[in-house]
Amino acid sequence: MNAKPVSASRTMMTDLVLPSDANVYGTIFGGKVMAYVDKIASITAMRHCRMPVVTASTDSFNFLAPIHVGEAISVEAFVAWTHNTSMEIFCRIECEDLMTGQRKETGTSYLTFVALGSDGKPALVPPVEPETDEEKWHFETASLRRKQRLAARQDHRQQRQTRQSET
Ligand SMILES: CC(C)(COP(=O)(O)OP(=O)(O)OC[C@H]1O[C@@H](n2cnc3c(N)ncnc32)[C@H](O)[C@@H]1OP(=O)(O)O)[C@@H](O)C(=O)NCCC(=O)NCCS
Repeated sequence: MNAKPVSASRTMMTDLVLPSDANVYGTIFGGKVMAYVDKIASITAMRHCRMPVVTASTDSFNFLAPIHVGEAISVEAFVAWTHNTSMEIFCRIECEDLMTGQRKETGTSYLTFVALGSDGKPALVPPVEPETDEEKWHFETASLRRKQRLAARQDHRQQRQTRQSET
């Protein structure tokens, strides 16, 4: 399969934060942000492989700053790395004060998506080719993140087995 450049699937979304998106403090719900991130990341993954995808895992989310009603929220996603059937997507969340134009990064996360073939089973995805320095950094550091993620998955499985055998 031919490699595809990161730029071919990079996806950006901007939306206005409305009162219906917010908690009682007038800032956006974390769950709303996570839903945006999952959706934009899945579009990126499908643009890359042109197949249906499922979210296999999401790395930890750190919300570094609140986003207020009346501000714009932007989510940018790109394919950081691919393996056989999985794609690691990097997401950056920013807010913008629409009166001053000041922008701030409020969070980042990595999500892993798996492509599904017509039989519903994991299917091979094209490799990704990083172009910019930032893309190259994410690409070069990805195998370590994958190792940690799969170790965490293994831990979860063992904990579930222990719980089930003891209850
Ligand atoms: C993700 C899923 C397709 C993996 O299926 P599986 O039968 O476990 O397949 P495998 O173990 O062969 O893994 C397939 C790929 O997924 C990756 N993977 C599986 N679980 C993962 C996890 N928790 N985190 C990161 N990658 C994961 C594997 O590393 C492998 O990648 P590779 O082919 O690039 O090496 C399956 O667990 C699933 O359908 N989960 C539910 C997904 C879903 O419904 N998400 C929506 C929210 S509930």
